[in-house]
Amino acid sequence: MADDDIKQMKLYQHVERVERALADRGLAPPAPLRPEQIEDLDHLHYEGRDSVDLASKRLGLTRDHRVLDVGSGLGGPARRLATVPGCRVVALELQRDLHECASSLTSRCGLDDRIRHVHGDILDAEAVDGPFDALVSWLVFLHIPDRPALLRRCRALLEPGGGLHAEDFYLRRPLHDDEKALLRNEVQCAHLVDRTTYIDELESAGFGDIRFDDCTEDWRRFVGDRARDFRSDAEPFIALHGRAAFEALSSFYATMVRLFDGGRLGGVRVTARAK
Ligand SMILES: C[S@@+](CC[C@H](N)C(=O)[O-])C[C@H]1O[C@@H](n2cnc3c(N)ncnc32)[C@H](O)[C@@H]1O
Repeated sequence: MADDDIKQMKLYQHVERVERALADRGLAPPAPLRPEQIEDLDHLHYEGRDSVDLASKRLGLTRDHRVLDVGSGLGGPARRLATVPGCRVVALELQRDLHECASSLTSRCGLDDRIRHVHGDILDAEAVDGPFDALVSWLVFLHIPDRPALLRRCRALLEPGGGLHAEDFYLRRPLHDDEKALLRNEVQCAHLVDRTTYIDELESAGFGDIRFDDCTEDWRRFVGDRARDFRSDAEPFIALHGRAAFEALSSFYATMVRLFDGGRLGGVRVTARAK
């Protein structure tokens, strides 16, 4: 997918809001940062650092592990992994502006020795070289319609026995046409599979020990709270970032509420081992 396509998604617009928010906190460059000072801004997934810590625990990650973070966004998960438990991370991100913002935040956190940021597409065999001890990914696979190719690529980048941990969407029940259109146009998500197909595709790509945990109800609550809190605290956000940025994010958050409330979109946390 090209940068231009994925930029249709409102969550990925107005990236300058991160630096503006930091400047507003008296943390304009070159002020050094601590990862925990920015974690309300740099995790573009659900449940923030808790979800990253859960991944570390499930994969048994330590300082010695080399980890690939696929679709690393603004780098929040990568910086958490590089801090607790202190892994060496390659953070691969498709969108140049997110990649550049993430690299700058990592430098300011003093983590350049633990994280290497790479701009590229996971489907591009040249983008990164393995093998890695573990591969993690938060809310990225949903953007990639050719799931068999994606999973084969993930497997090829792992050592035998290496762990995969991904948070993703899946189909709980067939979607209505309006939900398919919302997912395609507002979430850049053109293809989802049900639980059985998800597990079959992982097995076909060379993964075993598959654990498939449904997170739908937790995520439904999370997106509901997020949308409500964002709208109820609109004025300071609008004063800092402008109404266009507010409307863009608010509309994206409302879309996710509608999709999860429908009961057909599912959320999954999947872990597996490369055979
Ligand atoms: C919802 S964001 C999550 C970002 C980050 N994982 C996090 O949780 O904070 C999904 C990210 O995946 C990236 N992405 C989508 N397709 C990708 C691909 N083919 N290769 C690399 N990154 C991709 C997007 O650009 C976006 O930054």
